Amino acid sequence: MFDFAPDPAQPKDQIYRELVESAVALTHGEPDGLANMANLAALIWQYVPRLNWAGFYRAIGDELVLGPFIGKPACIRIPFGTGVCGAAAASRATQQVPDVHLFPGHIACDAQSRSELVVPVLRDGKVVAVIDLDSPEPERFDAADAAGIEALAGAIAALI
Ligand code: SME
Repeated sequence: MFDFAPDPAQPKDQIYRELVESAVALTHGEPDGLANMANLAALIWQYVPRLNWAGFYRAIGDELVLGPFIGKPACIRIPFGTGVCGAAAASRATQQVPDVHLFPGHIACDAQSRSELVVPVLRDGKVVAVIDLDSPEPERFDAADAAGIEALAGAIAALI
C-alpha cells in the first residue's frame, strides 16, 4: 500500500509541495477519475491535519454532486451559487471561510464544522469539481492552505 508520511514539523508550503508531488505520483497513468479522486481525498486527509471532512464535489450540469471524500456522510447535491461549495463553483474562486456560521447560506453537513476552504478545479477554464476541506477549528485555514490546495487542484485537474 501507499504510506505517505508527512513530517508535521515542516513549514506548510513544504508540506503542500510534497502533497502535490505525492498526488501526481499517485494518479500517474491512471485514467479513472473516480479512483483518482478517492485516493486524493485519502491523501489530503494524510497531509492536512485538523480536518473533519475532505473531498470532492463534481460539477454536473448546473449543480455539484458529491464525490469521494473522508468524513461524515454529506449532502449529495448543491446548486451552483448555494453554500460555500456552490459559491466557489459559481465564482470559480477559492472560498476561505474563517467562521462558517457567518457565511450566508452555508450548508452544515457536519455540525462540528467551524471553518472551511473550497477550491474550484478548472479544466479549460470550466469548473469540473471543487475540493472541499472542513475543520472543527475556527480560522483553521490561511493563505498557505489556500495556495497549497490551489496548486493541488491545478496538478490534478486533468486526472479526475
Ligand atoms: N459546507 C458546504 C457543504 C458541503 S459539506 O461541508 C461536506 C457548503 O456550504 O457548501
